[in-house]
Amino acid sequence: MANLLTSGAAGPLSGTVRVPGDKSISHRALMFGALAVGESVVEGLLEGDDVLHTAAAMHALGAKVSRGDDDRWYLRGRGVGGLMEPVDVLDMGNAGTGARLLMGLVSTHPINAVFTGDKSLRSRPMKRVFEPLSQMGAVFSSREGGRLPASVTGARRPLPMVYELPVASAQVKSAILLAALNTPGETTVIEREATRDHPELMLRHFGANVRVEHLEDGRRAITVLGFPELTGRIVRIPADPSSAAFPAVAALLVPGSEIRLDSVGMNPLRTGLYQTLHDMGADIAVEGLREEAGEPVADLVVRASALKGVDVPAERAPSMIDEYPILAIAAACATGTTRMAGLGELRVKESDRFTAVLKGLEACGARVEADGDTLIVHGSGTPPPGGAKIGVNFDHRIAMSFLVLGMATPEPITVDDADAIDTSFPGFVELMGELGAQIEEAG
Ligand code: S3P
Repeated sequence: MANLLTSGAAGPLSGTVRVPGDKSISHRALMFGALAVGESVVEGLLEGDDVLHTAAAMHALGAKVSRGDDDRWYLRGRGVGGLMEPVDVLDMGNAGTGARLLMGLVSTHPINAVFTGDKSLRSRPMKRVFEPLSQMGAVFSSREGGRLPASVTGARRPLPMVYELPVASAQVKSAILLAALNTPGETTVIEREATRDHPELMLRHFGANVRVEHLEDGRRAITVLGFPELTGRIVRIPADPSSAAFPAVAALLVPGSEIRLDSVGMNPLRTGLYQTLHDMGADIAVEGLREEAGEPVADLVVRASALKGVDVPAERAPSMIDEYPILAIAAACATGTTRMAGLGELRVKESDRFTAVLKGLEACGARVEADGDTLIVHGSGTPPPGGAKIGVNFDHRIAMSFLVLGMATPEPITVDDADAIDTSFPGFVELMGELGAQIEEAG
């Protein structure tokens, strides 16, 4: 794939597609499969760069991981406590989820491991996992400011704990719950705002004892009992609602469009974007709601819609944290003002997405402003002029968001790093092309 991509005005989008598997669930399926006794089979694994780095890391930690000719992934796990010391550095690429969750896993095994990643991952904050995992007995050594590369010496005698998350982060919660598996007694994570519950659901699916309590003040306490017998399972991974967001918003913005997105994950802790688009007047029908491997799944039918600006409350952020860039694109084409509050965490994603969205939309001629951690987009009812070149900064979601905007703006939009898209959405350009979008390599 060329490094520069340009998207231009598209005719109506139409057709039925299935976007790749859920990134969060894919990482976890590989990790739990690597811990379980016996064989696990994973269907619909996201074969994006992020998840492939996790697959390689699980192999380096001693699990047998292979891809069958039938497109399924097969794992033979080591059993809880059975991970081996990797003989080389674990390179997690661009994947914050892979890096943070695996640090949790290694933390309570008596082994050493060194983690690194690409330029973006090496700039992201890791103290948020070092801190709780150190309380469980792991020892970390890292670059200044808690950045990768970092080495972990896992605890020989891990200690259970009760830990309240200082930031709403599913990655931190998951790292602790993974560490808890090889820790005696009960380990509890308390979260003030519910974050995606894939680890809770998948732990149960693999046979662990997980207790979720709703405390009176609205907090959630998740408790794992150490040393469970995890047994091999089949995991069917839904299409990623975060990836489905790109064709969905494209269809809303390109006049005359109607598309169908098959088997999209509808976990209520992931669907904040769809709720917000609904509030904005989007025509998105949720059809055939069903359950697959413990996760709700549905087909979405999306029709072009006139959108209006809305206020998005800060409490909704955990359920749509990865979707603000594409929501801001929708907001820039809506009528009226959209205020998105509580976006502090957006500054520490694969890039500083808060600034990237603000600057990128400005460059495309949209009216945008920031008020602390609130992003404000003033839509005029028609798409902004476009005609900009956007610096992607190793960030797949920034690349895809602005390519979607380019389908609606009068002037095309170029992004400078197409390769970044492969971290979460391999085949994005081809899939959008099937629906009728014009995304081309730029000279
Ligand atoms: C993820 C959690 C979120 C999200 C990331 C995936 C996960 O990060 O942004 O893309 O799979 O747990 P935080 O937990 O840091 O909010």
